[in-house]
Amino acid sequence: MEARDTPIPVPALATEPRFAQCLSLAGSSWKRSSSWTGTTSCRRCQGAVWPCLCWRRSSPSCGCPRRCPVNWSGSRAARRQTPAQKLRDELRRLLGESWSEELERDVPHAWQRHKDLVLLSEDSFKAAVWEKLGPVLWETVASALGAQRLARRGRVLPDGMRSPRVTLLLGQDGWVEHVDNGIRYTFDVTKCMFSPGNITEKLRVASLPCSGEVLVDLYAGIGYFTLPYLVHAAAAFAHACEWNSHAVEALRRSLVLNGVQDRCCVHHGDNRQLELRDVADRVNLGLIPSSEEGWPVACRVLKKGTGGILHIHHNVETLPTMAPLQTPVLLAEQASLEGKDCNGEAWHPMEDREKETQGARIRPEWQRWAEATAARIRGLLAELHGQPWHTSILHIEAVKSYAPHVHHLVLDLECRPTLPT
Ligand SMILES: C[S@@+](CC[C@H](N)C(=O)[O-])C[C@H]1O[C@@H](n2cnc3c(N)ncnc32)[C@H](O)[C@@H]1O
Repeated sequence: MEARDTPIPVPALATEPRFAQCLSLAGSSWKRSSSWTGTTSCRRCQGAVWPCLCWRRSSPSCGCPRRCPVNWSGSRAARRQTPAQKLRDELRRLLGESWSEELERDVPHAWQRHKDLVLLSEDSFKAAVWEKLGPVLWETVASALGAQRLARRGRVLPDGMRSPRVTLLLGQDGWVEHVDNGIRYTFDVTKCMFSPGNITEKLRVASLPCSGEVLVDLYAGIGYFTLPYLVHAAAAFAHACEWNSHAVEALRRSLVLNGVQDRCCVHHGDNRQLELRDVADRVNLGLIPSSEEGWPVACRVLKKGTGGILHIHHNVETLPTMAPLQTPVLLAEQASLEGKDCNGEAWHPMEDREKETQGARIRPEWQRWAEATAARIRGLLAELHGQPWHTSILHIEAVKSYAPHVHHLVLDLECRPTLPT
């Protein structure tokens, strides 16, 4: 963002002008006060604007909004306010007598922050009255939340590219940077989405021993897995496939940001048309609910002489079991729907931190799915190469509880050609 868009926080005390004198804040004594740390400038004309003592009476000559640009108040009460309270209070002031309980319900209590950009939820500011306020509404919201840019989220489009429907409400562009496990991801929030739910899988991938290996990431997105493989897991080279041009742009920028662009080839297009063959030690298939369409591609890119490992993502449904048969996983799932783990602590996605108990937690449906998948892959490989291959299930990772009784799983499947006897 340009510097002129950044209001400089100044200490301020909101009071009626008639009280200003006794608070020694009025007129020139306020401007010369030793506690004065700087001026603040109008977001539009860049002209200096002294903090008005009453926001409604501010009358900047440039025609900037009739709103005091001061975004921080030194009063203790104001400092104790949560951002949500501050937002509600500022909006109530902006609307004056038009304020109603119904509008209050329309004011968001939670949002996603990407440094100076705040992403509001889909269900916020729906009432018609907000629209009538024009840009001053978004300037007020941004100021209350300490942001420079604002965007509002819509539903992810079911277009196979997971395009978010996000509208930029304030600011010039939606590019943000997100640092995750020491990796810098950049993307345009109005064009791509970040999946915070896959954090455990990103961490697991980062810890895999991939030194010297060639990776093919069939569903690279903005690089959620490609980057940890390159930056932390020390993969020698990655082929990243992605058909969404916005995600490709974000991925290319992030590769540069992390200094690994020379170790990655981005294949922009449908991975089913990929001409790559016989190159990979490892293939990542990070698409849910199913990556099945990518299985033949994964078999083609695996090294035919030595094989490798596939990481196959899939949503697996489990039938609900009766209470007496509950396993630790079922308990975890039930608790997770209430936002707690089985110990009543705050819930984290269905990760398994205690690896030694992982085996005991695998559900029969997961095992059956893993075995059926292994058999299909063996069949595909045998057909492709005209010789038998063997597979072994190395691990089944439960990434998260996706919906009631549906888990996002990753199968680590080792695939090797059978050596002639
Ligand atoms: C779920 S996102 C991947 C993000 C990341 N792997 C994750 O799980 O967080 C799936 C990505 O695959 C891309 N995709 C889906 N089908 C594809 C195909 N046939 N060829 C190339 N890219 C595809 C989508 O555009 C999307 O960016």
